[in-house]
Amino acid sequence: MNTFHSINKIVYGAGAVSECGALAKSLGASRAFLITDPSLEKLGLHKGAMESLEKAGVPCGLFAEAELEPSAASIERIAKEALAFKAELIIGLGGGSALDSAKAACVLMTNPAPIEQYFGVNKVPQACMPTIMIPTTAGTGSEMTSISVLSDKASGAKLGVVSDYMFAKAVLLDPELTIGLPPHVTSTTGIDAFVHAMESFVGRAATSFTDAQNIQAMQLVAKSIRRAYVDGGNIQARADMLYASALAGIGFGNTQNGIIHAVGTAVPRSYNLPHGLLMACLAPMGMEYNIMANPEKYARIAVILGEEEYGDTLELARRAPGRMCDLLEDLDIKIGLAPYGVKREDLPGIAERAAASARLMGNNPRPGTAKQLLALLEAHH
Ligand SMILES: [Fe+2]
Repeated sequence: MNTFHSINKIVYGAGAVSECGALAKSLGASRAFLITDPSLEKLGLHKGAMESLEKAGVPCGLFAEAELEPSAASIERIAKEALAFKAELIIGLGGGSALDSAKAACVLMTNPAPIEQYFGVNKVPQACMPTIMIPTTAGTGSEMTSISVLSDKASGAKLGVVSDYMFAKAVLLDPELTIGLPPHVTSTTGIDAFVHAMESFVGRAATSFTDAQNIQAMQLVAKSIRRAYVDGGNIQARADMLYASALAGIGFGNTQNGIIHAVGTAVPRSYNLPHGLLMACLAPMGMEYNIMANPEKYARIAVILGEEEYGDTLELARRAPGRMCDLLEDLDIKIGLAPYGVKREDLPGIAERAAASARLMGNNPRPGTAKQLLALLEAHH
């Protein structure tokens, strides 16, 4: 038995933020509260949505101090301000952190604080305040998922609140909001989206419903990431990347990720390596490790990345990592952890934490013990 979750309403296209007011009204809201981060406020990226709400006669409060790694305290503050504003709808606008802040704040608007008591899966008792999610980067796919990742002050760890109540009521995808992303952010977050789709596609929990989203997500990234990287103003390439990220979000939101996320998120945070960059530099290694466990799907990935579809399936599958390396080279991304200064003595710890990540390795097509993952990391260092 399977369940497939998606988002009810997706409004998309260049200039889609101008629909924000009408969309809020269609959800029955007469007052809204928009959450974004300070850098986006400075760029004025929130203005289109705010103006549209005003035009539609929906007063909108603004909280522009979403934290990079949101703390429980910041979530409580947002919920308090939104309640004081008598908001009936929360709008998250930004990258993963602003969206995660919005998702967690909507929990505390209808459920008592502190947010820590809801860490884990489906522990939120009451339905949350409705939300609209508006991403300004193409990569995390956070707008499509029901998870909010927060940093736990006590342990310093990142913990997630996951609840079906946290799915957005609507998602607004406007590629114009992503035009200003610098090339290295475009490339690394874009590869993160590809990796979401790929890990979901080859994973144990994959179904026909997730395959449909993931294949299209990978095709869009393969088609447009080079163009988006060299010509950030190309609105069609930007649209492809934004839609790919959302499609992949639906994919992995239903299945979980795999070995690339397990290893990448196990790299010590002291190295300060962005998530997308880690996913990119580890992608060929993860693909090589997994091929034998699911050659048909890696053959499909090889074709999506540019191989011609003929000959032996396993042969074709084995060409997929090479094609990924070619793509990374075009995007000026070096392969492996060594080029980024990760020391050999950190590899055992990385392997151990990755192997212990049951949520991620549980979906990976090939199991991996700490010993196996260490051998893999050392061979690629
Ligand atoms: Fe990711």
